[in-house]
This record gives sequence, C-alpha cells and structure tokens, in this order.
Amino acid sequence: MSAQQTFLRDAMRRLNMTRDGFSKRIGVRRRALDTWLLPEDSSEYRTMPSIVKKFVSEIIGREILMTEYTQSAHESLAEKIGISGKPHLLSVDQLTRDSLEELFHVSDIMQPIARRQKISRVLEGAVLGNLFFEASTRTRVSFGAAFCRLGGSVCDTTGFTFSSMVKGESIYDTSRVMSGYVDALVIRHPEKGSVAEFSRATNIPVINGGDGPGEHPSQAILDLYSMSREFSRLGKLIDGAHIAMVGDLRYGRTVHSLIKLLANYRRLKFTLISPPSLEMPIYILDSVTKHGHVIQQSTSLTDLKQVDVVYATRIQKERFADEAIEGYTPEFQINQALINTYCDKHTIIMHPLPRDSRAGANDLSTDLNNDPRLAIFRQTDNGIPVRMAIFAVLMGVDKQVAHSMRDAKWNVPSHIGPDDAYFDALLD
Ligand code: NCD
Repeated sequence: MSAQQTFLRDAMRRLNMTRDGFSKRIGVRRRALDTWLLPEDSSEYRTMPSIVKKFVSEIIGREILMTEYTQSAHESLAEKIGISGKPHLLSVDQLTRDSLEELFHVSDIMQPIARRQKISRVLEGAVLGNLFFEASTRTRVSFGAAFCRLGGSVCDTTGFTFSSMVKGESIYDTSRVMSGYVDALVIRHPEKGSVAEFSRATNIPVINGGDGPGEHPSQAILDLYSMSREFSRLGKLIDGAHIAMVGDLRYGRTVHSLIKLLANYRRLKFTLISPPSLEMPIYILDSVTKHGHVIQQSTSLTDLKQVDVVYATRIQKERFADEAIEGYTPEFQINQALINTYCDKHTIIMHPLPRDSRAGANDLSTDLNNDPRLAIFRQTDNGIPVRMAIFAVLMGVDKQVAHSMRDAKWNVPSHIGPDDAYFDALLD
C-alpha cells in the first residue's frame, strides 16, 4: 500500500467516515479522493496536493485533542488518580495539578462535616482496615475518624507483635485475607515499596499511610491544601512561592511527597536546609528541577531569607543507627528568635508533626506556640476533610456527599482549641 493510501485510510478510520463523508468533510470531489486512494502503479493514480494533506493532518490533530478532552471529562476523579485501573493512592506521582484541585474541592465540601456542623452517612456499612506496622497517632486516628465521619466503621491493628506477620505471613497473604474483611485499607509499614506490594494483592482501595523513607501522599495533599488555604487568606498564590524545607530531608517521607507534589505548580523556589548527612535524595531533586523549579541547598538556617513557608521536619532517628549527626546543634532549631530575625509577618510555619519536644531534640520550638504564623494545628485539623475526600473519591461516593448532609445534633465548642479564637482574630 502506498504511503498516501495508508495516510488517507488511517484518517478515514480515525474520523470514522466513509469515502463519501470524508470527501465532503475535506471539500474535494469523491472522484478525486478515489484517484488518491488507488495503487501507485495504476494509470488513474494521482498524488494528493500538499495543501490537502496539511488540511487532513490538522483535522485529525483536532479530533485527537477532542477525544482526549471528552475522555478526561468523562473520567471520574478515582479513575484519574487510580493506578493500573485500581483505586489506590500509593504515591503523589498519581496526581496532576487538575486532579489535585478537584480533590481540594471535595475537601472543601467536607469541611462542615469535619467541623462537626453536619453529618453524612455515605459510607454507612463500609469497614476500613487500618494496618499500622509503625508508630502513628495522627495518620492512624485521622484516617479512622474521617472514615467514621462518613458513616463507616474501622478495624485496627498496630505493630508487628500482634499481627500474624510476626509468624512469617507474607504481605500478599495478609493483604488478600484483610480484603475479605474490609472495604478499604490504610497501611503504614517501615519498608519503602511495601504498601505498593500490599496493593498488588487486592482490588479494594489501598492508601499509603507511609512506607518507610518512601512516601506519605495523604500528608502531602493535606499540607498543600493547608498551604493553599493560608495563602488565599494572605492573597498569595502557590505559583511563584519560595518554600523552605528544613530538617531530615533524607529520610523524611513527608517532604519527599510534598516537594514532588509542589512540582506540579509553576516557578517555585525551594531552599532545602539539612545537616550535611541528611540531604534530600538526588532522584527527588532531579524530578523537581526537570519542571524548571529552582533549588538551593544549604546546611545553615541563616539561608532562611524571604521565604513564604518554613516546613520543618523531625530527625527520623528510627531510620538510622544511633550516631551523632554532624551539624545538628542547638543552632539548628526553628524558634521564635530565628523566625523574627529571618522571616516576615506573612511567613507560614508548618510541620507534619510529631515534633520532638524533649530537651536536646532541636526540633521546632514550642516558644512559637503563640505565634499566629505557626500553622501546625490548622494543618492537623485539615487532615480530616482531606482524608474524607480521599475515601469518598476512591470509594466512588464523592458526588453524593453534598446532598447527604444533615445537621449535627450534639454541642460543639465554637473553637476546638483554647487558643484558636486568639489565632483566628489575629488572622482576619
Ligand atoms: C510523619 C510520618 O510519620 O512520616 N508524621 C505524620 O504522619 N504526620 C512525620 C514524622 O514521623 O516525623
């Protein structure tokens, strides 16, 4: 078949048109089209004018774009986020800027439920399996509370000691067995890649609640959601922001997920400050710089200048042998004096928590507790609507939530924390 024949047949197939329809569509006589479709050695064969070829190429290009557009408009958010056709959340690599903003929209819808003004039962009858093989307070409880607030209930296991994994059961068997009992799994495990292994043994939604030094996608989503809410209050955009990440950037999975998620935005500047042995892994730096963002690395907190966000992290001592960390001295601490020296009144201070408040830990100082720039508890509060949104989307009830709400009947304090009123007044 000649190249011209192949090109025209392919075009008619893509546009799903007969010769008649196609000749009308491109504005040529049917007879002319027939001669272009003949074998090259036929005496009737004619070469199609180059202008016609260009026109056909343009029509096909537009058609491909339209098909992609309508397919993505018809795809549910769960399908957009999912991996290998399954509704799992294992890595922030599964999210685009569009799907992230859609998820933020669902999180906004969840706010009145998270604030206990409304109730919803869209997950009534569903059971969550919370499998935590590593220490956790917030992630485990907030995933559980989020599921309950949508009407579901929760079964928990914590640690290896009381699970059959201590008897040598494989990840595959554990995952398949649990899938017969529950409707979704949240898993935290000390090995990178382990939650993905769990997900391969089941078709129910699996959410990565932290896989060793790998990723912590739900934390990064709630961090970015919190950042965008703080920024909108201050009239700032995430695009163009300057974000400092401080602490254990090597083993801290929250910053691994957060920096990759932020890379979906435009023209960001990152200042990454860590002790020399705890720098951000190169593979993550490469994935961020390829989006055109600027990264500056440092070992000193004096480089914390003109940043919009300071994101502090705990040294992940459980992930390496108990050795002294060079450069991790009392000077390496985010505290009131440092923030007053280097930051302005609109700098937001974040931390995924827990912060190590023991003497000598050098983690985020409690002397900032009365500073309204400290967003850590607004951040933890946002864990509920964001995790509700993740469940609702992955379990296919996100569109039902808005219509399902009823008023909550019990007494709820107007501010959850004793200092919240003071913060809210300052922030207005
Ligand atoms: C973090 C974690 O477990 O990765 N905590 C959390 O989930 N909010 C951070 C940490 O342990 O330092």
